[in-house]
Amino acid sequence: MPIPEKDKSFYRYTKGHRFAAMYPLLAREIVDKYGLTEGTCLDIGTGSAALVIELSKITDLEITALDAEPEAIYMAGENCTLHGVPDGRIRFVTAPVEELPLPDESVDLILSRGAIPFWDDLPSAFREIFRVLAPGGNAMVGCGFSHLQTLEDVKAMRPVWPPDVLAERTRWKKGGLVEDALRQLGVNTYNITDDDYGTWVEIYKPGRM
Ligand SMILES: C[S@@+](CC[C@H](N)C(=O)[O-])C[C@H]1O[C@@H](n2cnc3c(N)ncnc32)[C@H](O)[C@@H]1O
Repeated sequence: MPIPEKDKSFYRYTKGHRFAAMYPLLAREIVDKYGLTEGTCLDIGTGSAALVIELSKITDLEITALDAEPEAIYMAGENCTLHGVPDGRIRFVTAPVEELPLPDESVDLILSRGAIPFWDDLPSAFREIFRVLAPGGNAMVGCGFSHLQTLEDVKAMRPVWPPDVLAERTRWKKGGLVEDALRQLGVNTYNITDDDYGTWVEIYKPGRM
């Protein structure tokens, strides 16, 4: 589905983007948290690619940015040019999370910010995420901001949704849907955190013995 004109500003990673101050801090937080500056990284539902543009500036990670929407991928390419990210530094892929066109156990760090509310089939999404995650790798999937921001900044950035949109955007967190999806897959090496900064599902795939 093409991106509606009214939503396009969210896909342009300019200084005026409403989360512009957040992405560099979230990228820094992720690098500090997982201690990973090389290896492979996949960003699912990359949108503007803002998070991986920032990661590309501070790491040597081999980054793949994936989105189901071809127009998002096109705009993400434009954002790379705007930020001086060299051609080919980030590999772009158009595909849905439910059918990741990547080999088994090939990604050391999987990220996905703000895309899970739009996934219709959580069991398939998490099956694919766990399939491509390398042994010893981590996935961080959810919605939120950076703990390196102040709570005041987060409150000022957080969108205020009408009640029906809020219900739709937070449906994935309710009724144990994520826990059920992971249980079905036999994945028990996960942690779900929920605080004033956001809600994240972190999955670890045990390394080979
Ligand atoms: C709210 S945007 C978040 C973009 C970006 N990750 C960020 O934090 O700014 C959600 C993105 O997820 C993508 N998306 C939604 N459903 C998807 C799916 N099933 N597979 C892959 N991408 C999907 C959308 O096209 C959109 O670009």
